[in-house]
Amino acid sequence: MSFTIAGTGKAHPKLVVTNDMMSEIVETNDEWISTRTGIKSRYISTDETLFDLTLAASKQAMKNADIAADKLDFIICSTMQGDYKTPSLACQIQHAIGAKCPAVDINAACTGFIYALDFAAALMDSGRAENILIASSEMMSKHIDWSDRATCVLFGDGSGAAVVTKGDGLLAMRLAAKGDEKLLVIGGSHGNNPFDKKTPVHEYLTMEGGEVFKFAVSSMCYDVKYVLEKANLTLDDIRMVIPHQANMRIITAAAKRLGLHDSQIMSGIDRYGNTSSASIPILLSELIENGTLKKGDIIILTAFGGGLTSGACIIKL
Ligand code: COA
Repeated sequence: MSFTIAGTGKAHPKLVVTNDMMSEIVETNDEWISTRTGIKSRYISTDETLFDLTLAASKQAMKNADIAADKLDFIICSTMQGDYKTPSLACQIQHAIGAKCPAVDINAACTGFIYALDFAAALMDSGRAENILIASSEMMSKHIDWSDRATCVLFGDGSGAAVVTKGDGLLAMRLAAKGDEKLLVIGGSHGNNPFDKKTPVHEYLTMEGGEVFKFAVSSMCYDVKYVLEKANLTLDDIRMVIPHQANMRIITAAAKRLGLHDSQIMSGIDRYGNTSSASIPILLSELIENGTLKKGDIIILTAFGGGLTSGACIIKL
C-alpha cells in the first residue's frame, strides 16, 4: 500500500541555547526544565530563515533517496507558518531545487508530518504521484512569548524531510482532530484594517499545559493501539516507536501505559526541545543516519498537537 520512505534529512540552526542561557532570559533553572520536560538545550534561529533550514533538510533527503528534482511529483511542507504567508514554503522549495511539480503547505501543528504522509499516501494511491518530497519545518522561536517561562523553555527550531516513493511500506494510518480554541493557541494578526472592531487575539503561543499533557498521553495511546489493530500487529512486531518530542514525561507516561520496552522508545528532546511537526522527521533521519534503524524495521510514528490534532502510522522501512 502507498509508499516507502526512500530518504530522510534534517537541519537546525547553529545556535544552541542551553537551559542556563534560558535562565538569563526568564526566571527558571536547568533543574526545573530538565526534570519537568527532559529538555537540556534547543536550537534557536539567529540569521537562518525557515526556508534555509527546509532547503538543507530537503536536499539531504533527496540525496539520500537518490531522487532528482525533476522526478518529484509533489512537494508538501507542513508548517504553522513559513517565512511568508505567500508564497508558501513548499513553493519556495520547489523554485530553489528547480522542481516543476505542484507544491503546497499544510498546517496540522505538531501532527503535520503524519498528516503530510497521509496526503502523500492518498496521492500515490490515486495514481497522481510516485515521488513526493515532504518537509516539516517550524520556527517556534517566533511564535513563543519569550517572557512566559511556562512556555518559552519548551520549544526549538528545526526542519525534517523525507522523500517517499511508491511502495508498500505504509501498513496502517490514523488521523484525528478534536477542534479546540483554548488549550493550545497561537494568535493570528488582524492586520491594519481601519474598520476592524474585533478584540485582538494574543499573538504568541498560549497553552494549558496540564490539559495538553493529558490529551497527549491519551491520544497517543489510543492512536498507537488503533494502528496496531488495523495492521494486525502487536508491539512485539515493532522495532521502535518515534513519538512527537514535546516532553519526556509525556513520552514515558505513554510508553508505560502501552507497555513498551525502553529499547522501543527513542527521544532527542534533550537536544532539540519541541520542534513541533519537525520533531518526528528529525529523529527519524537521525536514527536512519546513525544506523539504529535499518531497512525492513517496522516503526510507529505518533504525534499530537494544536488543533487539537493527533495521528499515528505504522511504516515498514
Ligand atoms: N521554570 C521554573 N518554574 C516554572 C517554569 C519554568 N520554566 N514554568 C512554570 N513554572 C512554575 C509554575 O509557575 C508553577 O509554580 P507555582 O506552583 O508556584 O504556581 C510550577 O512551576 C508548576 O507549574 P505547572 O504548570 O503545574 O508544571 P507542570 O509540572 O504541569 O509542567 C509543563 C508544565 C508545561 C512542562 C507540562 O504541563 C507539559 O509539558 N504539558 C504539555 C505541554 C506540551 O507538550 N505542549 C506542546 C504540545 S505539542
